Amino acid sequence: MTQAGGHTERVKQRTHEGFLRHKHFMFAQIATALCVVAVGVYFVTAARLDEPPNGGSWIGYTLGTISAGLIIWLACLGIRKRVITSGHYSLKAWVSAHVYLGLSLTVLATLHTGFQFGWNIHTLAYVLMMLVIVSGALGIWAYATLPARLHGNRGEVTRKQMIEQIESIDRQIHDVAQPLDRAGAEAARMTIEDTELGGGFLKRLTNSYGDCRNKRALERLRSVAAAPNTPQAEALIKLEQLMKQKAEVLSLARKQMQITAFLEGWLFVHIPVTFALLAALTAHIVSVFTYW
Ligand code: HEM
Ligand code: HEM
Repeated sequence: MTQAGGHTERVKQRTHEGFLRHKHFMFAQIATALCVVAVGVYFVTAARLDEPPNGGSWIGYTLGTISAGLIIWLACLGIRKRVITSGHYSLKAWVSAHVYLGLSLTVLATLHTGFQFGWNIHTLAYVLMMLVIVSGALGIWAYATLPARLHGNRGEVTRKQMIEQIESIDRQIHDVAQPLDRAGAEAARMTIEDTELGGGFLKRLTNSYGDCRNKRALERLRSVAAAPNTPQAEALIKLEQLMKQKAEVLSLARKQMQITAFLEGWLFVHIPVTFALLAALTAHIVSVFTYW
């Protein structure tokens, strides 16, 4: 979790630096210009040919080569990120160019295909590219909005404090449960010992805790019978309050973990699919040169 916290800090810093606005949107302008020229040339050529030029036409080859070059360069960000430099070409500039030129591929590569799609390796490369782009866009959305939400969700309570709160509630549950019979004591044991705060990555990402043991324990507690005004009845009331309190803290902590999981999670799509894309792209290029 420490690592996730560090990542979030880094992300926040970078958002403040504003890689999206870097040099007055210089890379956004370059990417837009590239797309406008490509669309212009493509449709002028299409009008002359009376049909959309496909990947095998001169414009198709040009756009395909530019797209493939861009993809390889975009994939190199992983290497660039791990080389620490503070020179003129800052990481911020790289990320800014990465985002806008990456988005321009939706136009450049689509024109390259001549809008011819099918169940083949070529379209697989295209679909993988789109997946990488969409996950990248989700990452940008996450960078831009989630750190603020993380802050808002926490209020003044840090993650460490939330865990301390849960531990403190558990101690109180343990003390209050002393006069209870077996069924009541079992419910108390269940919430203290079996409640899982986080869990696996998917669980944290989807925030799905339908099987939460604290919730189950609360349900069990409600079915425990007690004669009115006895120590058992009083203990049950107190215990129910404590478990509800615990449910609130758990829900807040899990929301926070969901946000952190999303901040990390999009890269689990972005990076592996990049590798799959590079493989499919190689197969596409080799196959068109072999069979074309
Ligand atoms: C050096 C780079 C590239 C070269 C030389 C190249 C070459 C070609 C050629 C010759 C065709 C026509 C094949 C045909 O009509 O059956 C084609 C079509 C296509 N290319 Fe590329 N390409 C390149 C990059 C890319 C990239 C980056 C993508 C997308 C990620 C891509 C996706 C496609 C698709 C989807 C088609 C349509 C296939 C079809 O007709 O069913 N290509 N490419
Ligand atoms: C086919 C196109 C793309 C490829 C091949 C690609 C590939 C990559 C790779 C390899 C990394 C490095 C990840 C790491 O090692 O940590 C990366 C990072 C990133 N990509 Fe992409 N990407 C593409 C398009 C996009 C697009 C369109 C966006 C945004 C709309 C985007 C947003 C990002 C962001 C925000 C990062 C993280 C940068 C950082 O941590 O500073 N990518 N991408």
